[in-house]
Amino acid sequence: MPGSPVNTQRCTRVLPVDISKLGKFVFQDPDLSFLGDWTIHLSEGSVDAANLQEAASRLRSQDVPVAFPTETVYGLGADATRSSAVRGIYNAKQRPSDNPLIVHISSLAQLRNLLSTRDESGSIAGTDRDPIPDIYHPLISRFWPGPLTILLPLPAPSPLAAEVTTSLPTVAVRMPSSRLALALIQLAGTPLAAPSANSSSRPSPTTAAHVLHDLSGRIDLILDGGPCEVGVESTVVDGLANPPVILRPGDVSLDMLRHVTGWEDVTIAYKDGAEEAAPRAPGMKYKHYSPDARVLLFHGDMDANTTRKYLQTARTVGLLTTERWKPEVLQARPPCGDKYGVLSTSGRVSRDNESRSQVKETADASETVVEAIGEPSVESISPVQHSRIHLGGEDEFSIDVWTIALGPDTKSIARGLFSALRELDQKSVEVIFVEGIDDGKGGGARAAIMNRLRKAAELEIIL
Ligand code: TXA
Ligand code: MG
Repeated sequence: MPGSPVNTQRCTRVLPVDISKLGKFVFQDPDLSFLGDWTIHLSEGSVDAANLQEAASRLRSQDVPVAFPTETVYGLGADATRSSAVRGIYNAKQRPSDNPLIVHISSLAQLRNLLSTRDESGSIAGTDRDPIPDIYHPLISRFWPGPLTILLPLPAPSPLAAEVTTSLPTVAVRMPSSRLALALIQLAGTPLAAPSANSSSRPSPTTAAHVLHDLSGRIDLILDGGPCEVGVESTVVDGLANPPVILRPGDVSLDMLRHVTGWEDVTIAYKDGAEEAAPRAPGMKYKHYSPDARVLLFHGDMDANTTRKYLQTARTVGLLTTERWKPEVLQARPPCGDKYGVLSTSGRVSRDNESRSQVKETADASETVVEAIGEPSVESISPVQHSRIHLGGEDEFSIDVWTIALGPDTKSIARGLFSALRELDQKSVEVIFVEGIDDGKGGGARAAIMNRLRKAAELEIIL
């Protein structure tokens, strides 16, 4: 049923698509690659091609959105020209209807068609003027296809569904570099409006399993192309402003943008806090990227026993002063089974830490004993290591800690960030202690990581 209510239980299928088995991408000009004309010749009898075609055909004819991978995060796509289809996205995600969507295109011809002014009969008005503003030409040549979203003037009337842009005079557009995403848009034959495929306010999904976790029963189809390469959402820029600005940090940094003609003076126009008084990118005002657990963001020079320091600090700031942490309560009923998560980004906690069961390590004989318990699971993007920490002293007790080590290199932190927050949620931890990184103030991947973490965190503590 079009625009179906969220309580409708749908049977959600996950269909794998191996991009190497799809068929052949044919470029009219190999130098231009996806920026010139291109087509895909699907392999006959390929299951992967059939899965992609099924998704494309649903996008054309139905109003329930389809989830698909991009190089940044998984998107929840719908035909951007049909209102009923776009409303399906807001429905499935429970997204506030004043938060506009990014339109994904597979060719510049498709974009020009979208931006062209039309006469009353709907025909494109004859003009030699390129509807893509000059300021964007060098940016497109340099960064598309890729993780960069640009703000463009919306023509009036516009072929886009009004629900895509809400009441704004601009539309946010990107050409993803994921070949799977490009092939899907091309086969659907229409630009796809697609926000991240999480349920609103949750961390963005970087695997098909994350999408299934959030949207199972709400959508019919998830295309599974494996884990996303970048892991954080695209950089959003506004080149219509003078000077141009970055509205959301992503993999394309301030420094990279400043090397492009016309973008030498680009500045940062986003703030990292959870709330922004007058957000220029409307999505920035909502609670975002939050796992179920509380997130505490730490900075500072950690010693070797990172976890112990986190816990001590947590006590100092009063986090551990709820009823059951009081000495009298502890004596009567030790809080066994309390669970914490640690997300380490410094590389000090080694990924393949020697975690044979029952290995005991005394960090500080009088206070803390760490007992490493589980083998890290190797299947997930973010292997989790489980230890039990025995805290000595008057109020002796033990707690369970799940640690995920992502660092120290920026790419692996970005790639594993949302996945790690979700993995730790799966362990039902109460609090996730996150080791912050230097954001470099450069609007790039490091800034994107800290921007998302600051939105997820309730507290940021400098040690
Ligand atoms: O990497 C990405 O950009 C992913 C993948 C799926 O492509 N998409 C994504 O979409 O992150 P979403 O909807 O989660 O974030 C879109 C952001 C929001 O902050 C939104 O407010 C902003 O772009 N945005 C969209 N249209 C806008 C406009 N016309 N003016 C200013 N900001 C806009
Ligand atoms: Mg999002």
